Amino acid sequence: MIQKLAEPLTLPCGAVLSNRLCKSAMTEGLADEFNRATERHVKLYRRWSHSGCGLLLSGNIQVDRWHLERPGNVAIDGRNGGEAQLAAYARAGTEAGNHLWAQISHGGRQTPYVVNPQPMAPSSVAIDMADLPGFKTGQPREMTEAEILDVIERFANAARVVREAGFTGVQIHSAHGYLLSQFLNPLVNRRTDAWGGSLENRARLLLEVVRRVRGAVGADFPLSIKLNSSDFQRGGFTNAESAQVVQWLNDIGLDLLELSGGSWEQPSLIGMTFHADQGVDAPRESTIRREAYFIDYAARIRQIARMPTMVTGGFRSAAAMNAALEAGEMDVVGLARPLVAEPETARALLAGASHVARPEAVLDPMHGQSWYYVQLLNLGDGLDVDADLAGPDASARLLENEARAAAALQSR
Ligand SMILES: Cc1cc2nc3c(=O)[nH]c(=O)nc-3n(C[C@H](O)[C@H](O)[C@H](O)COP(=O)(O)O)c2cc1C
Repeated sequence: MIQKLAEPLTLPCGAVLSNRLCKSAMTEGLADEFNRATERHVKLYRRWSHSGCGLLLSGNIQVDRWHLERPGNVAIDGRNGGEAQLAAYARAGTEAGNHLWAQISHGGRQTPYVVNPQPMAPSSVAIDMADLPGFKTGQPREMTEAEILDVIERFANAARVVREAGFTGVQIHSAHGYLLSQFLNPLVNRRTDAWGGSLENRARLLLEVVRRVRGAVGADFPLSIKLNSSDFQRGGFTNAESAQVVQWLNDIGLDLLELSGGSWEQPSLIGMTFHADQGVDAPRESTIRREAYFIDYAARIRQIARMPTMVTGGFRSAAAMNAALEAGEMDVVGLARPLVAEPETARALLAGASHVARPEAVLDPMHGQSWYYVQLLNLGDGLDVDADLAGPDASARLLENEARAAAALQSR
């Protein structure tokens, strides 16, 4: 059963992934006050380069310094420099001959208040979620058309910069409620111009970004997007709409489509729900029984997709990973939390391990994410994972870290 995970994959652009295991994107919070990469990225990604994964994705790198997802994000926005640091990061992260792709994103309304009290969004619709520490956001303002066109250029520029820095591919983040996902979501995109309304209009920004990025990096460079298989909210972007968007993406030439789901309002991406009503795509019992959260939705999209697909979220056993690959439901397994808990997980899987670590199963959900964030800070410092870290201590340390990073941003 190990063979399928170990099989190489040739992408449409000609690049080859050495196996089917990918470390999916995880925000690191390790940038300096100018949102430049640091030595801590170098340490973290050097370790992951030797983890056994054929593909690593960076944590989200923002295309606008005023629209981050946390204060310690790396940003590429024309004036903040940091090219040499990015190159060092890319070099370390590809040391073992694996791929390292940069995930590029724009926070939109999911920009923390401490970064920008009035972020841009498709429409002026505030986030509907409890005020969790670290997740306070401002009332967004509707973007002008000039700002929309500027965002397209920013994605293209960031893609060009990461290619020059030595990343071996690029992924456009269009999932999890960030700006491109906000445009797709009718609950957030209430526009009545060419960028809102029909699905064709809501998808216009994503498709334009993908086309411009492809033009910027060329046909031989791996290009991926991360897309929600559904927002899992009544009135949000649905699985059927996601399939239609993939049909349109077929014509542009993508190398890997990563499927996930949810947003800050509805964190399905990590197997949680804040709103009981999950809309028309609410998981059925048969789906809940499968460990990977989105595999049933992704299998439907796989019927339409002409590019390879990857599914991320919940995979914890080699049997489930191999079965989904064998059944042709997807081509690549995305793993995130297991590669924090045990950074060499991919190597273990390829050597025959049957399961990966899942500390989230025993952590209080209120502190689960903090635990992973803090472990990434530890790994960035060259330390090992602190397996004994208690959830409340992780949350306290994270809040302190984020406050320090926000203060540093404000003082620059
Ligand atoms: C600490 C942490 C940070 C994350 N940051 C990002 C991110 O920057 N971009 C992204 O697309 N997804 C991000 N995610 C979501 C993961 O890529 C992945 O979709 C999710 O954790 C489900 O996979 P898993 O069950 O293997 O952890 C993050 C998840 C975690 C736990």
